[in-house]
Amino acid sequence: MITHRSILSDIDHILDVPKSEWHSSLTGICKLLQESVSYYNWVGFYFANYTRRSLHLKAFSGLPTEHVEIPFGKGICGQVALSNQNFVVPDVQHQDNYIACDLDVKSELVVPLFVNGKNVGQIDIDSNTINPFTKQDEKLLAAVNSKVAEFIPKTLYILS
Ligand code: SME
Repeated sequence: MITHRSILSDIDHILDVPKSEWHSSLTGICKLLQESVSYYNWVGFYFANYTRRSLHLKAFSGLPTEHVEIPFGKGICGQVALSNQNFVVPDVQHQDNYIACDLDVKSELVVPLFVNGKNVGQIDIDSNTINPFTKQDEKLLAAVNSKVAEFIPKTLYILS
């Protein structure tokens, strides 16, 4: 089994490149997470544009989605843009405010990404398993986001 510690160490290597390579690095992190955890079937990073009040998909691994821009407040992702809190959805069928990307998806976990205390984006995990996420997943993804926060260029998000 691949430990969370080894995933985080691999991420340190992925991020040990110039910031200009942010796209391949973020895509590499998505791919690493998707391949390392059996129930992570889609992994993506959305970043906020506070002028448009929407989230924008900047990197992902898994099936392409048409939801590359999500208004604040819409879906699980849009709600996290406003709440600044992790959102664990054990069964997406029981969510009213949910945007379906792929009918195989059963559950979702979204963890906000903070730079200097500001919610600038999020990591979004879709799973084809019902209720797979634990506190350990939330801890792992918060740790991933802290590393990403130190690496990403400011041009990835717009604060006002
Ligand atoms: N399900 C998300 C939309 C993004 S997809 O999962 C890629 C939501 O409800 O916000």
